[in-house]
Amino acid sequence: MKHVGNRRSINNNAMSINSTISPSRNLGTSSRPLSWPTHFEIFNNWRVLALLVLLLLVALPSLVLYRAAHRSSVFLFPLPISSSLQIGQSARVYDDDEFKLVRVLNEAAMVDGKTVILTTLNGAWAAPGSIIDLFLESFRIGEGTKKLLKHLVIIALDQNAYARCLALHTHCFALTTDGVDFSQEAYFMTASYLKMMWRRIEFLKSILEMGYNFVFTDADIMWLRDPFHRFFSDTDFQIACDYFIASPYNLQNKPNGGFYYAKSNNRTIAFYSFWYSSRETYPGYHDQDVLNIIKYDPLILNIGLKLKFLPTFFFGGFCEPSKMFQVVCTMHANCCFGLESKLHDLKITLEDWRNYMSLPLYLRNTYQSGWRVPQNCSLEALHHHPISADNVELGPTAEQDQDA
Ligand SMILES: *[C@@H]1O[C@H](CO)[C@@H](O)[C@H](O)[C@H]1NC(C)=O
Ligand SMILES: *[C@@H]1O[C@H](CO)[C@@H](O)[C@H](O)[C@H]1NC(C)=O
Repeated sequence: MKHVGNRRSINNNAMSINSTISPSRNLGTSSRPLSWPTHFEIFNNWRVLALLVLLLLVALPSLVLYRAAHRSSVFLFPLPISSSLQIGQSARVYDDDEFKLVRVLNEAAMVDGKTVILTTLNGAWAAPGSIIDLFLESFRIGEGTKKLLKHLVIIALDQNAYARCLALHTHCFALTTDGVDFSQEAYFMTASYLKMMWRRIEFLKSILEMGYNFVFTDADIMWLRDPFHRFFSDTDFQIACDYFIASPYNLQNKPNGGFYYAKSNNRTIAFYSFWYSSRETYPGYHDQDVLNIIKYDPLILNIGLKLKFLPTFFFGGFCEPSKMFQVVCTMHANCCFGLESKLHDLKITLEDWRNYMSLPLYLRNTYQSGWRVPQNCSLEALHHHPISADNVELGPTAEQDQDA
């Protein structure tokens, strides 16, 4: 993938522009003892002032352009300026896809202008009546989640997914990869499945580099309440779990790569670089397994990444459903083998939720019943049968926890 967003080159631009502006600043603040100026000094100051005005006339438009470019997006940096002012770095030419991505992200961003919700989608999950329909439905019947749909960007991994997205949703982006065809069903743990998983991590890293915060969510996660009320503040990276052991800090929690909230800063960018490069250290593993290994790595402490695990109490799944309808935010079809089982149980999940929501408030407050799921979802089949392309179709996520 070509790099989307290049923070380093932007910083260099900023630096080079500052250096052309700073001489004028120095002229304005030349150090002199405070006294009444002589005629000669007034004449001299006029020259200084004229020079200053001239410099401002030259520097101001570049500054304004720079700020405008910086504000709107990293890609819109005007090339003539960057090429004339850049020191030692060739101007980057941004391609159509990158412009499109920035446009989609800006359109979908929340009021802060830089937070989006992202999901990835492939053809199998995009088919009518499949996962995507349930996913979008959950936003509509969830409590306070409908308004979040306008911040959701669907990243389509193939043509079918992209076409379906355009038919269903406002913010769609087609993620293409040179030389890789994701249009085929990607079977769990096959080479193309792994490639797709790692492509996703690489892509999300570039989103962070572009300065956007994001909640990444698998599409088989039902959004039942607004999760932003439950996220930890002052945390760089917070991730949902298949199994929540104890405290949000406990590294033994079993994170699930299907749902996390990442804030864009140097620490998360370094963390994603480390995560992505670790695919070479642990070949044959998918992103979630590698995360489960590297979460103990001292490098994460060195980076200073503020990492927390989200309790299943709020962010549950079929592995460990939230016990309280009153507080649950999300329900993930994790610990589930097979697309048919997944669809079956997610439909029941939404039925359970609808039943709960249809109750009068006083009954909702005292509601004690649990979920009727999982029913068909389990990992049994995964344990007892070797993985084969015929019976595994799991879409673009990796919630199978094989030692669960
Ligand atoms: C990253 O660090 C550099 C220098 O340490 C700083 O200039 C830059 O603003 C930081 N970027 C973010 C997103 O925090
Ligand atoms: C779900 O399980 C029931 C009972 O085991 C079975 O009859 C049904 O075919 C399953 N449905 C799906 C969609 O897997």
